[in-house]
Amino acid sequence: MIDLHCHILPGVDDGAKTEQDALEMARAACAEGITHIVATPHHRNGVYENTKDEIIDQVQLLNEWLDQEGLPVMILPGQENRIQGDLVEKLEAGDILTMNRTGKYVFVEFPTSHVPRYTARIFYDLQLSGIIPVIVHPERNHEIEKSPEVLYELINNGALSQVTAASVIGKFGKKIQKLTYKILDHQLAHFIASDAHNTTSRAFHLREAYETVASDFGVELRYLLEENADLLIHGQSVNAEPPMPIKERKFLGIF
Ligand SMILES: [Fe+2]
Repeated sequence: MIDLHCHILPGVDDGAKTEQDALEMARAACAEGITHIVATPHHRNGVYENTKDEIIDQVQLLNEWLDQEGLPVMILPGQENRIQGDLVEKLEAGDILTMNRTGKYVFVEFPTSHVPRYTARIFYDLQLSGIIPVIVHPERNHEIEKSPEVLYELINNGALSQVTAASVIGKFGKKIQKLTYKILDHQLAHFIASDAHNTTSRAFHLREAYETVASDFGVELRYLLEENADLLIHGQSVNAEPPMPIKERKFLGIF
């Protein structure tokens, strides 16, 4: 299995704090059958800055440690970019890392409370320069929870999305799980990833999430999502079914 979203690089954000933490996470990943992990440290989220070159160096170091420890998991470079109005300029300036340096996909995080108004413009500009934005954990965004059509519009205009494994299996609560199911059901999600920060409160759960998808949606969707992770790290076009709008919740069942 390939995990596309993970805070395993030690000492760079709110994920692994020490080398030992990172090794422990790598061991847990191996135990689930994960063979490749894209390290996606937070960047410009108001707390952490992790630029492209720093991440590439850290990934190399971690791979050396894992090799010494004999752990059969490979770390690939990535970045979790909090959306900012100058994302395209920063990309052109060489600050932003595309997933596994293939120049094709960028992971983009929204603030939890809302989807900034300039998102559509930035996504359009990114796509003009040949880069596809991947919205991370849309199911945890409050505006998308209230108005899922916001997500539909972005996906319909060419963005992709990644739901979090823990959301699929209900670790963030029933409400988020329900929205995650709707997102999957309406063909608005293209990837599942762990967003693991540690081995306790924010662990991987990737295998369990794929198994849940297989039993609740069918094995075809599981295979499609797993194949998409592989296509993404190789910079190839992923499988995307036509997105469907999520119907508005009825107000007191009247309308
Ligand atoms: Fe994350």
